This record gives sequence, C-alpha cells and structure tokens, in this order.
Amino acid sequence: MSKLCVLLVLLVLQSREIQGQQPYINNHQLDCYNKAYNNLTSGFDCNGVQSSCQSYLTFRSNPLYNSAVEIGYLLGAKATQIASINNLTSDVATIPTDTVLVIPVNCSCSSLYYQYNVTYRLKDKTETYFIVANDTFQGLSTCQAMMSQNKVGDKNLSVGLDLLVPLRCACPTSNQTASGIKYLLTYMVTWGDTISYIADLFVVDQQTILDANQLSQDQTLYPFTTLLVPLNTTPTKIEHSQPSPPPAPAPQTPPASSPDESNSS
Ligand SMILES: *[C@@H]1O[C@H](CO)[C@@H](O)[C@H](O)[C@H]1NC(C)=O
Ligand SMILES: *[C@@H]1O[C@H](CO)[C@@H](O)[C@H](O)[C@H]1NC(C)=O
Ligand SMILES: *[C@@H]1O[C@H](CO)[C@@H](O)[C@H](O)[C@H]1NC(C)=O
Ligand SMILES: *[C@@H]1O[C@H](CO)[C@@H](O)[C@H](O)[C@H]1NC(C)=O
Ligand SMILES: *[C@@H]1O[C@H](CO)[C@@H](O)[C@H](O)[C@H]1NC(C)=O
Ligand SMILES: *[C@@H]1O[C@H](CO)[C@@H](O)[C@H](O)[C@H]1NC(C)=O
Ligand SMILES: *[C@@H]1O[C@H](CO)[C@@H](O)[C@H](O)[C@H]1NC(C)=O
Repeated sequence: MSKLCVLLVLLVLQSREIQGQQPYINNHQLDCYNKAYNNLTSGFDCNGVQSSCQSYLTFRSNPLYNSAVEIGYLLGAKATQIASINNLTSDVATIPTDTVLVIPVNCSCSSLYYQYNVTYRLKDKTETYFIVANDTFQGLSTCQAMMSQNKVGDKNLSVGLDLLVPLRCACPTSNQTASGIKYLLTYMVTWGDTISYIADLFVVDQQTILDANQLSQDQTLYPFTTLLVPLNTTPTKIEHSQPSPPPAPAPQTPPASSPDESNSS
C-alpha cells in the first residue's frame, strides 16, 4: 500500500517534470475573450515542488502608487518589507516615477495555477478587467484570470465593486530546486526590455531565464507581460533600473570640437 503511494507520487512528480517549466504568455493576455490560450493566461501551472512559497514580483512606481505604503496596499504586501528590500528611506517616502521595486508576496497554488490573491476596489467607471490587469497592475494579472475568478461580467462592473486580482507567481520546479534556485521572481516586462538586460538587473545567467520561461533567444518580449526570473538568493534593491533609454539622440548635440571625449573616466 505504501509502495503504491510512493509509486503514485513518483508518477505525479515525473509527469509534472515532463510538463516543463513555465511557458511565456506571448501577448495572449491582450485577447480577453479568447479561451484557446487559457492554459497560458490563467496563471503559471502548479508544477513546483511546494504548493506555496515565498516569491517576489516587480512593480514600477507611478504617480498613483509612489510610496511603499501605497504600493503595499495595492499589491497586498507589507510596506515595511517593501521599504527594506528596496532601501527606501521610509515607507511613506515618495519614490521617483518608474523605479522598479521588488515586492515580496506569498505565492500559493489555487487548484491548477499558482497565484497571489489581491482585492482591488473599482474607482472609475472606465475600468474594465483588461484595464485593471494591464494598466493598474501592470500586467501582473490578466483579464482572463480575473474574469474566470470574478462572477461579475465585464459589462456589469461598477464603481465600488471589489474584484479578486490573481497576481502571477510561481514556485520552483524540482529541476530548478536541484540547480540551487530558491525563488522565482515575476518580472513585469516593459518597453525595450531584453533578456540580457533583465539578466543583468538580477545578476543571473540569461540561459536560466530562457529555460525558466521556455523561451528561445530570438523570442520577442512584449510589454506588460510577465517573465519568471530564477533566483538563488533573496533579491535586493534593483540597481539603477532606467529601462533601456529611449533610442533618441542625445538631447544636446555635443560641441563640434569636443576635447578628447574618449578619455573621460
Ligand atoms: C530536468 O533535468 C533533467 C536532467 O538535467 C533534464 O533531462 C530534463 O529535461 C529537465 N526537465 C525539464 C522540464 O527541464
Ligand atoms: C496551450 O493551448 C494552446 C492552444 O490550445 C496549445 O497550442 C499550446 O500548446 C498549449 N500550451 C501548453 C503549454 O499547454
Ligand atoms: C507570508 O507568509 C509569512 C509566513 O506565513 C507571513 O509571516 C507573512 O505575513 C505573509 N505575508 C503576506 C504579505 O501575507
Ligand atoms: C542599502 O542600504 C544599506 C544601508 O543603508 C547600504 O549598506 C547598502 O549599500 C544599500 N544598498 C543599495 C543596493 O543601495
Ligand atoms: C497597458 O498599459 C500601459 C500602461 O498604462 C499602456 O501604455 C498600454 O497602452 C496598455 N496596453 C493596452 C493594449 O491598452
Ligand atoms: C485565492 O482565490 C482563489 C479563488 O479564486 C481561492 O480558491 C484560493 O484559495 C485563494 N488563495 C488564497 C491563498 O487565499
Ligand atoms: C449583468 O447585469 C444584467 C442586468 O442586471 C444581468 O441580467 C446579467 O445577468 C448580468 N451579467 C453578468 C455576467 O453578471
């Protein structure tokens, strides 16, 4: 009897391993009413070793959410922890717009998919599931995941209604655990991001990010989608993270005869 159990456990573990790590959403989050890709848009599969784990996600400060307290409130995370991980002077200090912050969340498996539940109260009558998932939560959730977990239809949303927002997160697979990976961080992709840029931000190998997301080197990354970044240690403040500067020419043209510009250090 116990042998049978062991066998079953092994079979389950094996089939989870065969499922691989977590495929990239590939911009299917834009198509709220297409159910064909629900396997990608609903969340990351519960294929990890643990059914719940510490995980992290990234969020960009903006004029509406610009302190640890406000971001913590939106994302259901502890302001003091946000402040300490990101070296903020206090949990009410104003954070410059577009700073990439690391937010700790407790990820857990809810039947098929890992997620972190947050409640969001609608503020404005223009808000739809897509706007909440894409604009307010910056792609950390999807309209499809929200629609499948809230009873109210998209057309019946109203100001003051509380919605469940399942944030995308995941726990490491057995292969990842075996190679020393302790956490998966949900990184919110923005304009101009590349795998090598993201790998540099977290000081990880590009290939581990590609593997974790079942991506090939030539995959296009789309803004407001999420990627998993495997980490061996707890993340710290992201060092200066102005995403790849706009490819515009320098605002001021250098003087025609700039003195020995290549020697500056
Ligand atoms: C897990 O690791 C084994 C051995 O390194 C490898 O053969 C297998 O393809 C890996 N599975 C996944 C899903 O990455
Ligand atoms: C998700 O579903 C699509 C469409 O049915 C299919 O092509 C794709 O292989 C599935 N992906 C995974 C990871 O199961
Ligand atoms: C996450 O889980 C830990 C341990 O159970 C708990 O101390 C912590 O308060 C939780 N954090 C959040 C944001 O719920
Ligand atoms: C964070 O703050 C601590 C203490 O003030 C300092 O030692 C550390 O270098 C800072 N880290 C970063 C990444 O700024
Ligand atoms: C998603 O949100 C961003 C930021 O608010 C916005 O720039 C972008 O246009 C939105 N995407 C779509 C498809 O509306
Ligand atoms: C998150 O919400 C789902 C409902 O969609 C629920 O099944 C699950 O238990 C919740 N998870 C936690 C940790 O509360
Ligand atoms: C939307 O509201 C209408 C009118 O109150 C109701 O008949 C309908 O069932 C609602 N649909 C959903 C999906 O909530």
